[in-house]
Amino acid sequence: MTSFDFDTVHDRKHTGSKKWALYGDDILPMWIADMDFPAPGPVIDAMKKRMNHPFFGYCLPQDEIRSRIVADMAEKYGWQISADDIVFLPGVEAGFNMALNSELEAGDGLLIQTPIYNPILTAHKHWGLTSVEAPLMPSQAGYVIDEEVLEAGFARSKAFLFCNPHNPTGKVFTATELALIADACIRHDLLLISDEIHCELVFDDRKHIPIASLSPDIAKRTVTLMSASKTYNIAGLKTSFAIVQDPALRQRVNAARSGLVDSVNVFGLQATLAAYESAGEWRKQMIAYLEGNRDYLQAEIARRFPKIRMIAAESTYLAWLDCSALDLPDAPQRFFLDKGKVAFSAGSDFGADYTHYLRINFGCPRSLITEGLDRMEAALKG
Ligand SMILES: Cc1ncc(COP(=O)(O)O)c(C=O)c1O
Repeated sequence: MTSFDFDTVHDRKHTGSKKWALYGDDILPMWIADMDFPAPGPVIDAMKKRMNHPFFGYCLPQDEIRSRIVADMAEKYGWQISADDIVFLPGVEAGFNMALNSELEAGDGLLIQTPIYNPILTAHKHWGLTSVEAPLMPSQAGYVIDEEVLEAGFARSKAFLFCNPHNPTGKVFTATELALIADACIRHDLLLISDEIHCELVFDDRKHIPIASLSPDIAKRTVTLMSASKTYNIAGLKTSFAIVQDPALRQRVNAARSGLVDSVNVFGLQATLAAYESAGEWRKQMIAYLEGNRDYLQAEIARRFPKIRMIAAESTYLAWLDCSALDLPDAPQRFFLDKGKVAFSAGSDFGADYTHYLRINFGCPRSLITEGLDRMEAALKG
């Protein structure tokens, strides 16, 4: 069995990487959800092979990729879908905005669980919707739902833009929580848009459950969004897909792409197929490495910065840190950027109540985590 190398630090400066370009050469970037690991070998080989046929016109996803996704959903999640349920898209963000555009009217309530990934937090603004926030609560056992708050949110909303696994907390919703959400969506007659882009990045032998797989009743009101992009580190290939099992809903959501959302990237399709077909062992080892990174980060945070609160992520490669007890003169992201030359994501990106939080991307060689922590420590020592 090949052992993959996740320890080597590769120079990504001046390669057009947004992560490494935005803040400049002297800054260590630990922000956007993009990992510092090369894509798996089979993915690169598949793109090279495709390049040998030097025609890169518009493409139409063929049966092979559709059948692979159908098989993957059955194998990984026991979820039976059909090839026609899949709608290919250049991005998950485009997918949830298409669904909102298609199904909601200006003024309708859109339920979200804060803190939340910024394009989900702000999606309501594109369509004149009313944002309805139901915050997740930190607890000893991880982030939990406040059922009363959520239920009140459902009553005021027309759609729920759900994120599971959850960015930025890394929460994986349990079967019981998913059943509660599905039941409320049905009772309140809501559209459910489920962003499951991080579905393959779950830790400690947890299982991801696509919420639409719970029952035909919830499936028929759900738009599920997935992509190989986060897990196999190919987000720049702009290839994602929606699974919409109700034909009328699918037809309407797909129609909302008109004039705005084009076809997917020719290499993205090859890469996605190769990732699902041949990168399973790479993924397994990468997850084990990320679990090690998460544990290392948590232990080091506790040792070096006892005032920072970190609840271990159950998935993703994102850590959500409460820095309020540090009493910094500035927002933590600004402080560590200016004083430590390390770029995290600002808590305020994830909701108005989170200005004292930080999101750290730990999808990188472990030595870069150490460097990031050293930079934090230097900033605090002044
Ligand atoms: C929860 C979530 N949804 C969507 C996206 C973006 O997906 P895409 O690049 O396919 O639009 C991200 C990227 O970080 C994400 O974390």
